[in-house]
Amino acid sequence: MKFFVDTADLEEIRDLAASGLLDGVTTNPSLVAKTGQDFFEVVKEICKIVDGPVSAEVTATDHETMVKEGRKLAQLAKNIAVKVPLTKDGLRACRQLRDDGTMVNVTLCFSAAQAILAAKAGASFVSPFVGRLDDIGEDGMGLIDDICRIYEQYEHFETEVLVASIRHPIHVIEAAKMGAHVATVPPKVLRQLFQHPLTDKGLAAFLADWQKTGQSIL
Ligand code: G3P
Repeated sequence: MKFFVDTADLEEIRDLAASGLLDGVTTNPSLVAKTGQDFFEVVKEICKIVDGPVSAEVTATDHETMVKEGRKLAQLAKNIAVKVPLTKDGLRACRQLRDDGTMVNVTLCFSAAQAILAAKAGASFVSPFVGRLDDIGEDGMGLIDDICRIYEQYEHFETEVLVASIRHPIHVIEAAKMGAHVATVPPKVLRQLFQHPLTDKGLAAFLADWQKTGQSIL
């Protein structure tokens, strides 16, 4: 399973990339707005920090302008995945950008039917938003299960399931059990994955006992 971090915060990305556990980054217009920085500069910088796919989203809504924007974004770095919304125009733009050889992440997916269309449009990634479905009383992880099962039926579907809008570690664990290819995780949740109180307690006990021996390894 690949881990992407869902942020445009350069400090967070640098810190998490140093762990060696980061396979990519996803951004969206809201995350870029939060940084208060220039979109192109931020994206270029992220692409220098991380070798894996970096999603940068178009903001047009018609397919022609989406393709123009996507081509401009794709020129920023070789690891750009252009993000397009799951609309009729978005999928048309997806097909065109894929024909150019550009990675495309189809975002704002909320149904299995939409995910089938994204695969047929040749998306590199489809991003179902689990947290936002949970927020309205629907079953976010149930959707991931459905999409994974459907994609498994068709060998020619090359689209990876990128679980997005993750709110807590259980979303990540459930996604892994279902065989989702990627989880894009907010920095806070990514850090929570490392933590367990028994790890802290056990380490403190080991170190206290070691100190009693008066020895040192180095
Ligand atoms: O990047 C897309 C997605 O992960 C957004 O998540 O928390 O805004 O629903 P959220």
